[in-house]
Formats: sequence, structure tokens, C-alpha cells
Amino acid sequence: MRILVTGGAGFIGSNFIRTYLQAHPADSIINLDKLTYAGNLDNLSDLEGAVNYSFIRGDVAETETVEKALGAGVDAVVHFAAETHVDRSITNARDFVTTNVLGTFTLLEAARRKSVSRFLHVSTDEVYGSMPPGKAADEMCPLEPNSPYAASKAASDLLVRSFWQTHKFPTIITRCSNNYGPNQFPEKLIPLMVTNALEGKKLPVYGDGLNERDWIYVVDHCRALERVLHSGRPGEVYNIAAGKPHSNLEIVKRLLEILGEPEDLIEYVADRPGHDRRYALETAKISRELAWSPAVNLEQGLRDTVNWYRTHKEWVEKTKSGEYRSYYEKHYVNRREMLTRL
Ligand code: NAD
Ligand code: TYD
Repeated sequence: MRILVTGGAGFIGSNFIRTYLQAHPADSIINLDKLTYAGNLDNLSDLEGAVNYSFIRGDVAETETVEKALGAGVDAVVHFAAETHVDRSITNARDFVTTNVLGTFTLLEAARRKSVSRFLHVSTDEVYGSMPPGKAADEMCPLEPNSPYAASKAASDLLVRSFWQTHKFPTIITRCSNNYGPNQFPEKLIPLMVTNALEGKKLPVYGDGLNERDWIYVVDHCRALERVLHSGRPGEVYNIAAGKPHSNLEIVKRLLEILGEPEDLIEYVADRPGHDRRYALETAKISRELAWSPAVNLEQGLRDTVNWYRTHKEWVEKTKSGEYRSYYEKHYVNRREMLTRL
């Protein structure tokens, strides 16, 4: 199978490409990524020279680029590319609409024209909005997004749905809870807290710290995506989660314990506007239909993640300082598309 992965230089996309090719070396992957501040090629440097992997720098919202990327007989699309940070969507949502809505539409339209046989759209639990205590969203739950990020993802989910309903274009949507693990940009909760603590900085906890998220180790998410890609039913939605929400404070305190740092590094700061209190998902469908369940428990996943950030100081420095970004701007500035084997 030949797969076009979008956003494969980012956190989940890079983990997906690595785990997928390890399990299916006879398949090949083309990675289409714009290399925004959130993506960098070091995330996949271990694939340098691999015959079954290639990279195209380009924007999913540009028809010409997307058509070129799909040109070489792609069987399936796995669509990760997105603007993903809620806080950025609060200060400026324009890129979220352009990439998440227009980009998804552009990709759908081009993939349909090329008769791609499977389109997997990677979405989020945030589209369901905040869940009251004791309640978990199943796949039929209404979409009630509250941040501009979540709204842009919900809009893209609806476009994806419409291509199945209208054209019978074989799309599948997954909605996953918060991921953590190696290569996550250090502006999201877990890598921000770990890297700040390693640098002796304060750990900014929003509001009372009692908002809950259901943290899943990124490789578990990637394995679920692989199952859905191979055996999911077109037109369906599959929720993916670890199955146990935890408060932010619990997570931050556990990280400090693993790091051997004191709790007085925690600093309570002003709450995020529109901050969803609790995300929780019902995952019976994917476990029943595709026999998927998470393999990595939170304790092990957090330890491995802390260890990864401890041992990847250069990566952290380059992402935090914007060094990767300025490198790509300098080297690829006049080339709308760069096709290279890493
Ligand atoms: P990320 O921000 O780490 O990576 C996004 C990648 O997309 C980057 O490599 C970036 O360069 C690329 N990109 C952005 N705009 C692009 C464009 N216009 N054209 C091409 N490439 C572009 O994101 P992530 O955390 O890896 O999330 C990947 C996907 O999974 C997103 O669709 C997100 O909504 C979804 N998701 C994320 C989580 C999570 O906890 N991180 C949970 C559920 C679902
Ligand atoms: P985040 O990693 O941004 O993911 P999302 O908002 O998509 O769930 O945030 C996870 C939780 O952590 C969320 O409740 C907001 C909170 N948070 C903080 O308390 N402090 C921070 O500095 C950040 C980035 C997030």
C-alpha cells in the first residue's frame, strides 16, 4: 500500500510514520508537510535513506501541491496536518480555518478526484465539547466545540462526513483524546511542564488545575490508527482514548515526582478563556469492532516521556528557540515544493 500522510513532521504524524513502517516495511509513505513551527524533519531523521519513505514540503490548502503529492498512485490518505494548539487559536484563529477547514476540503476534493480508496481523517475528542462528570461521549454524541481550534476540527469532520454521505468517497474519522510522548512540541501541557522543570522554570497551571483530560500514549494512538486504516468501515467514526481522565494537577504533580523536583515549581496562572472542564470518551466501538485497546499505562508512558525529554536537550532547544523553523525558511524559502529523500 502507498500512503500519503499529511502533517507527518509533527508530533503524532512522525510517530505514526515510524511505527507504521516498522510494522509494514513493504508499504511506502509520502509525507506532505508545510513545516510550520510545529513540524521538523529531525523527528524522522532515523528514516534517512529509507527506500519506502519520501518527503514533500507543501501546504494541504494548495490544490496544485496536493495533486502533485497524490500523483504517484496513492492508495490511502492519513490526514494529520492541522494547526493544533488551543491557546494559539484563541489569539489568532485564521490559520486554523485555513489549514484545518480549507486544507481538509482541498485534500478531500483532490483525493476524491484521484479515486483514493481510503481517507482517514485524524480528529479530536475536543469536537464533542466539555463532558459533565460521569459522562463520556460516544461517536453519536452531538458536536459542541468550544475553542476556535475545536470548531475548526469539527468543521473539517463535517466536511469529511459529507464526502461519504454525498459522494460515497470512503472516508473514516477518528477522534482521539490528548496524546503525550516523544516529539511533542513543548507548548502542550506535558512537554511544557517537563522541559520547564528541567530548566528550573515555573510550571504554569491554568485556573484551579482541576480540568480533566484522558491522556493516551502516542504510540497507542498510532496503533489504533493503523487498525482503523486497515479494517475500519468507511463512513464510520471511531473514538480512541486511554479510558481514564486525570486532572491537570494530578499529571503535573506526578511529573514533578518522576523528575524529583519540588511541587513549589507549580504556579497557578489566569485560566484559558472558554477552557473545557473535562474531556471523556466512550471507546467500546473500536475495542469491539477492531479489537483495539491501549497497551501503555500512564505511569510507564509518563516515565518514558520524561526520559525522552531528558535525553533530547538539543531537540528541545531547537524547537523552543525556533531554530528549526528559521533553518527551513532559509533553505527552502524560494521553493514552493521540495521533494527529497531524507
Ligand atoms: P502538531 O502540531 O505536532 O503537528 C502538525 C503538523 O502539521 C506539523 O508538522 C505541521 O508542520 C503540519 N502542518 C500544519 N499546517 C499544515 C499545512 N497547511 N499543510 C501541511 N502541513 C501542515 O500536531 P499533532 O499533535 O501531531 O496533531 C496531529 C493531528 O492529530 C491533528 O489533526 C490534531 O487535530 C489531531 N489530534 C491531536 C491530538 C493531540 O493530543 N496532540 C489529539 C487528538 C487529535
Ligand atoms: P493542552 O496540552 O494545550 O491540550 P488541550 O487544550 O488541547 O487539551 O492542555 C491540556 C490541559 O492543560 C488543558 O486543560 C489546559 C492545561 N494547560 C495548563 O494548565 N497550562 C499550560 O501551560 C498549558 C499549555 C495547558
